[in-house]
Amino acid sequence: MMYIIDTANLDDIKRCVEYYPVAGVTTNPTIISKENTDFLKLIKDIRAIIGPDMMLHVQVTASKCEDIVKEALLLKEAVGGNFYVKIPISPEGLKATSVLHNMGIKVTETAIFTQQQALIAGLAGADFVAPYVNRLDNIVSDGVQVVAEIVEMFKKHDIKTKVLAASFKTVEQIHKIAMSGCQSVTINPALFETLTYHPMTQYAIDDFNADWESIYGKKSIAEICEGK
Ligand code: E4P
Repeated sequence: MMYIIDTANLDDIKRCVEYYPVAGVTTNPTIISKENTDFLKLIKDIRAIIGPDMMLHVQVTASKCEDIVKEALLLKEAVGGNFYVKIPISPEGLKATSVLHNMGIKVTETAIFTQQQALIAGLAGADFVAPYVNRLDNIVSDGVQVVAEIVEMFKKHDIKTKVLAASFKTVEQIHKIAMSGCQSVTINPALFETLTYHPMTQYAIDDFNADWESIYGKKSIAEICEGK
């Protein structure tokens, strides 16, 4: 299971990369525009923070195959490292996916809402497909079930494409996706941080500290071991 951070905010990326076992960063035009800054500098700064090995997924805005391919090549050249071009699924996007796949450029097919979109993207050569869980739930579909069926379908048909579940609003959605066998999720930093928090954990830590201090005062284990 891989956790990816869905943001272009440099402070959030720095914090998540420093503290958590994240596998990379995903962006889209909405996420990028929230930062309201120089686009090229922003994606290069993200790469500088995460280093060359972590995944960086950047989405194209072009809609015609040849323009998508051109943007993908320019983006790859600009950000380098472990790069994935995100392409929203469409006939032109699928054609571009095949072209880029044959050129050795890694593709994440995004804005996936159905199992058949995912299957066709996989057959076109996408490395990841990104189904939108919360947006499916919002239209009275079942995002978790759609993802679970994509995972099962890829297994049944021996398709190597991985599933990168996206668009989350709750911890429960993320947990159910993890239980489905989905290989990866991309989550905004605020929601990601809530995954590690539980009030009972904080009570337990407070109790440990109080019990320790009742006998050893403010001395730390390090200080005791060093004979201080
Ligand atoms: C990521 O690839 C998607 O663009 C993103 O997760 C969509 O999330 P949203 O539905 O919260 O905008």
